[in-house]
Amino acid sequence: MKIKSLGLDNIRSVEWIDDTESLQLIDQRLIPFRVAFVQLTSVKDVCKSIKEMVVRGAPAIGATAAYGMVLAIKEANNVSKQERKESFEQNYFDILSTRPTAIDLSNFAKKIYNIALETDYSFDESLKVAKISVDKMVEQCKNIGEKSTDYIEDGDSILTHCNAGPLATIDFGTALAPFYKAKEDGKDITVYVDETRPRLQGAKITAWELEQAEINHKIIPDSAASFLMSKGKINKVILGADRCLKDGTISNKIGTLSVAVNAKYFDVPFYSSFPWSTIDLESDSIEDFKIEYRDEKEVKYVTSYEDEMLIANPKSNALNPAFDITPPELITSYFTPDGVLSLNELKNKIESIDKK
Ligand code: MRU
Repeated sequence: MKIKSLGLDNIRSVEWIDDTESLQLIDQRLIPFRVAFVQLTSVKDVCKSIKEMVVRGAPAIGATAAYGMVLAIKEANNVSKQERKESFEQNYFDILSTRPTAIDLSNFAKKIYNIALETDYSFDESLKVAKISVDKMVEQCKNIGEKSTDYIEDGDSILTHCNAGPLATIDFGTALAPFYKAKEDGKDITVYVDETRPRLQGAKITAWELEQAEINHKIIPDSAASFLMSKGKINKVILGADRCLKDGTISNKIGTLSVAVNAKYFDVPFYSSFPWSTIDLESDSIEDFKIEYRDEKEVKYVTSYEDEMLIANPKSNALNPAFDITPPELITSYFTPDGVLSLNELKNKIESIDKK
């Protein structure tokens, strides 16, 4: 399947550049107004880019963390042998603490951490594993699209929330992969794009990606989704996940839970789509991980290209949880690299995932 999703042939949203031993990211903060790249040569750069959301979306953050760990190994090899472990551990900790909710971050970082220890900090070996792991995740996203074709019908009107496209996941997307495949198969679909307050990843990024791929879409206010469901204008929901627990509970961008509750009420199938790097093999319940709360400024201001504008009462406080939690009873099925799975099939698959 060849997808010209970004309109930027052969360029990935997260890419290791061998010549300069640096990590290149598309600056997602500028989309849709401008496509610009940043080059990262240190762990400090990597942490800043994740924290400031130059890169965002769980799998893309995971890939960034993997290459960030490769830079951590490079930095460890540039200090004395006595300081090496301390430098490496500190960088590992800094990468892990950039953002708390997307599990891909720690899954990828941990993998390269272990390779570093097994190979006595071999830069070449860890880079090789980082590249293979990222490619594997990208391939899995492609499979999500290919293995869910029976679930997308000509004439479908599908709601998505936030951004789970090529920028957030590299090349294909998780929630968007089925849309690209449908387009390729000549199916006529319309995608309703929740704007996704407060940072507007839907209105800005998902809409831009769908436009690049010439897929019919309409941006809607988040609050319009239930009305459109009640009128039969939305017949499916497909969105991503930032973490999926062993019991099928997902954590995803704030607003996902209301979409799921509304979908249940109006009998609209609700699908969550993710690669295997989004599975949390450690947490037993939602108490075991942290939901990120972000700066209240994101709620009180809107940002355009370079400007930001106050849109709320200046003296009021705002609360800004960035993710919510959707229980499995609200999820119809899961779009995965192994096909569309029921909850039980998903649980069996998770059992078989290698913890290493
Ligand atoms: O990094 P954020 O806060 O913008 O991330 C959230 C997301 O991208 C999503 O919640 C997305 O729907 C799942 S990750 C592809």
